[in-house]
This record gives sequence, C-alpha cells and structure tokens, in this order.
Amino acid sequence: MKLFSLPLKEETMHASGKSNILHLRAIDPYYYEMVKGLRAKVEYKMDTLNLRVIAVSSAVAGEGKTMTAIQLAANMASTGRKKVLLVDMDLRKSSIAKQLGMDPHSGLSEFLSGSLPKEKILRETAVPGLSVIVGGKTISSPTDMLAGEKFRSLLRELRERFDLVILDTPPILPVPDAVTVSEQVDGFIFLFRFSHTPHHLFHQAIEDLGERKIVGVVLNCEEKKPDKYYHKYYGKYYQVSHTEGKRS
Ligand SMILES: Nc1ncnc2c1ncn2[C@@H]1O[C@H](COP(=O)(O)OP(=O)(O)OP(=O)(O)O)[C@@H](O)[C@H]1O
Ligand SMILES: [Mg+2]
Repeated sequence: MKLFSLPLKEETMHASGKSNILHLRAIDPYYYEMVKGLRAKVEYKMDTLNLRVIAVSSAVAGEGKTMTAIQLAANMASTGRKKVLLVDMDLRKSSIAKQLGMDPHSGLSEFLSGSLPKEKILRETAVPGLSVIVGGKTISSPTDMLAGEKFRSLLRELRERFDLVILDTPPILPVPDAVTVSEQVDGFIFLFRFSHTPHHLFHQAIEDLGERKIVGVVLNCEEKKPDKYYHKYYGKYYQVSHTEGKRS
C-alpha cells in the first residue's frame, strides 16, 4: 500500500510560511524529486482508477498533511496536464493561506456559512493551472457544515470543473471531519510521519477511515539526506536533478 517516502529537511521547514514554498525545486532539490515521484504515482492511480477528488489525511496533528497537499497540488499543476484545485478543509486550524502568503479571508468557511458565493472563494495562484480555496475564518465545530448539502454540491461542481481536487484535511483521530466527508472523496492519501506517530494510532486511524478508501500511504520520514543505499542504486539520477535544481 505504500505510495512514497518523503524526507524531512530543515531548510524546507523554514521556508514554510512564506510564499517561496512553491519554489521547492530551488529550496530543496532532493525533496522536490521525491514530490515529483509521489506526483507520478498519484497521477497514475488517478488515471487508472478514475480518481478526481483526493483527500490528504493522517492519524494525528503535525504529520505533514498540509505541506504534502500543497507540494503535490503544485507539482501536478506544473506538468500542464491537469487543472488542479487545492482546498483547505481544515476549518479549525487552516494554514494553506499562510503557507502560500495569501489573504486568509474569503475561504471555505465563508462559503459554507452563506456569506460568500463560490465564485468569490476560488482563487488563482502563482503556479499556472493551480487554484486554491483557503480555509477562511476559524470554525470551532465544522463537522455538520462539512456533512451538509452545501459542501456536497460544491464538491460535485468542483469535480466537473477541475481534473484534480486535493482536500487538505484535519487529522483523523482528534476530530471526525475527514471521516465525515469520506463518501464524497474518491480516495485518501494517508500520511505517516515516521518516529513521530505511535504505530497503534496509525492503525487505529486506518481502521476508522476504512482501508478501501486509502489510495496509498506516504511515509514522511526524517531522512535528512540520501543515504549510502540511495546513492548506490539511484545516485546518478539524483545528481542530475540536484544540479538542475541549483540552476533554477
Ligand atoms: N517532508 C517534509 N519536509 C520538510 N518539512 C516538512 C515535511 N513535512 C512536514 N514538514 C514540516 O512539518 C511541520 C508540520 O507540517 P504540516 O503543517 O504540513 O503538518 P499537518 O499534518 O498539516 O499538521 P496539522 O495536523 O496540525 O494540520 C511544518 O513545519 C512543515 O513545514
Ligand atoms: Mg495541516
């Protein structure tokens, strides 16, 4: 079931919260290559299983859901093959607007509470082909709103307008939001942050969500640089992309 392994790197974490997080290739060429690999696998699954709405989730907080959702969406859009929409569905603690350096107002919560029409919440980004719906104002218990007809019909319309809709969700175990929307989602990408999340919590969350909905698991692990094994079998390819990254 494993989909890919993403390494953690100090500089990338520091870039988070600034708009240059979208210039991943220049900040962290190795991580960029890993994201590209993940994107290729997700794209293959999308095309073969006909998936359009994919949620990114994990068992607990801080496993890298938002970071992965942003990078996957940006990388998918940058191929030019797919029109991509990234939606911040974490209405309790939205962070996509901040990570992308965008205005945090006028988001999903304004639409769901009826104060803004959908045309006002759909926004373009600096990446051609990538649109975003930010979270908007914080809602302390959004589960009923996300389970309601308004969100359902929004998703129905968005899946017609975009080739891929990526939902950045809150963690599974503390709150029911991600499980609540699971029937409207074609598949989940499940993050597991190695050496952060106890294994039994990971298994419990998978059980809560139901295995059939999981497209793949991403290991978000603390592998700061390519190890000896990586160099032996992939080194040549990594060095080529690393040089390209430095030029960009
Ligand atoms: N693969 C990665 N490489 C570098 N930094 C990462 C990676 N994954 C996550 N991070 C960093 O780890 C921190 C937590 O990541 P993020 O906010 O994406 O987690 P989350 O699962 O969305 O958390 P929450 O459940 O609180 O919403 C952030 O500072 C982010 O920049
Ligand atoms: Mg998050």
